[in-house]
Amino acid sequence: MTNTKKIAVIPGDGIGKEVVAEGLKVLGALREHRGLDVEVVEFDLGADRFLADGTTFPEEVRNTIRDECAAVLLGAMGDPRVPRNEHAKEIIFGLRFGFDLYCNIRPVVCLHDRLMPLKGRTAQDCNFVVFRENTEGIYVGMGGQFKRGTPDEVAINEDLNTRKGVERIVRAAFEYAVAHGRRRVHVVDKSNAMQAAHELWRRCFFEVAAEYPGIESAHQYVDAFCFNMIRDPSQFDVVVTSNLFGDIVTDLGASLQGGLGMAASANVRPDGVGMFEPVHGSAPDIAGQGKANPLATVLTIGMMATHLGVAGIEDELTGIIRDAVEAGECTADVGGSRSTSEVGDFVVSRIRSRG
Ligand code: NAI
Ligand code: MG
Repeated sequence: MTNTKKIAVIPGDGIGKEVVAEGLKVLGALREHRGLDVEVVEFDLGADRFLADGTTFPEEVRNTIRDECAAVLLGAMGDPRVPRNEHAKEIIFGLRFGFDLYCNIRPVVCLHDRLMPLKGRTAQDCNFVVFRENTEGIYVGMGGQFKRGTPDEVAINEDLNTRKGVERIVRAAFEYAVAHGRRRVHVVDKSNAMQAAHELWRRCFFEVAAEYPGIESAHQYVDAFCFNMIRDPSQFDVVVTSNLFGDIVTDLGASLQGGLGMAASANVRPDGVGMFEPVHGSAPDIAGQGKANPLATVLTIGMMATHLGVAGIEDELTGIIRDAVEAGECTADVGGSRSTSEVGDFVVSRIRSRG
C-alpha cells in the first residue's frame, strides 16, 4: 500500500499558469527534500482549451478528482476572449459547488511590516482568518432578466441562504477557532437591511456560539466591518460571513497583506477533497510578462499540506515567504525586482538549503 496522495493541478488562464508553474517547482522540492508524498496530475482546462474544443469541466475530470485525488491546486480562471467567462464559472463552480466545498478559508495575515499600509500599525496587527460561505448566497445564479434592453427592464439575483448552509459554515469557524487557539469569532452580515436572510445568519450564529463558551462571539455589520478593518484590524481573529461579503472583504483584506499577490485561500469541507487557490484572478494586465507574484500560490500550497495532514510545511513556507519579502527576493508588487520564476527559484533554494 502506498500513501502517495494525488494532487489535481489546473493552472487555468493568464497568470494562473505562471504562478502554478512556480507552485509545481515548490511541490517538487517538498517532495524531494521533505518527503511530501504527492503525485501531480495536471489537467489542461481553461480558456485555451475552451476556445479550441468547447471543453469546460468534463465528467472524466470530475470523476478522477472525486475518486482519486486528495486535493486540487488551481491557478486562476478568466480570459477576456471568452464572453462572460462561461468556462471559468463551470470549472470554479464545478469544483466549489460540485464537491460542496462549503468553507472558503482566507487568511488575512500581513507577513511583514514593510507590507503593512496602515499608518502606525505593524504586521502583527493584521492576523485574522475569514470563513466565507462558499456554496450559497448570490452565487447560486437564481434570478434573471426581464424586458432586457427596454426602459422597463427588470434584473433580479436572489440571495439564497439555508439554515443548513449557514449553520455548517458558522460551526466550521468556531471549530477552527478552538483548534487554532483563536479567542474570538465575529459574524459579519447586513441584518439591518437584509432582514430575512441575514436575520437567519445572526440568529444561527449566536445559537451555535452558545455551544462554544470558551470563544468570544461578536457581530458587526459589513459596512462597519470594512471601516474597522482599516481603523483597527487587530480586533479580529476569525470572521464568518456570506459568500458575497466574503469575496469582497477579502480583497480589502488583501490590501492589508501587501496585495492580491500575497493572499491565499482554501476551499474545503471537513471530509473529502479540498481545492486550493490564490485569491487573485488571471490578471490579464500583467499576464505573460513574468511580473506575477507567486507567493500567494506558495502560501496556498502550505494550506494544502496542512489539509493533507502534513505538519510543519505551512509554517516553513510562511517563514520563507517572510524571508523573500525581507530580502527583496520578490516581485515588484511587493517592492522587489525579481521575476515570477526567480521568486519560485528563491523559495526552492531555501527549501533545499534547510535540507
Ligand atoms: P485580478 O486579481 O486578476 O487582478 C487585479 C489586479 O491585481 C491587477 O492589476 C493585477 O495585475 C493585480 N494582481 C493580481 N494578482 C497578482 C499577482 N499574483 N501578482 C501581481 N499582481 C497581481 O482581478 P481582475 O483584474 O478583476 O480579474 C481578471 C480576471 O480574473 C477576470 O476574468 C476575473 O473574472 C478573473 N478572476 C478569477 C478569479 C479566480 O480564478 N478565482 C478570482 C478573481 C478574478
Ligand atoms: Mg474575489
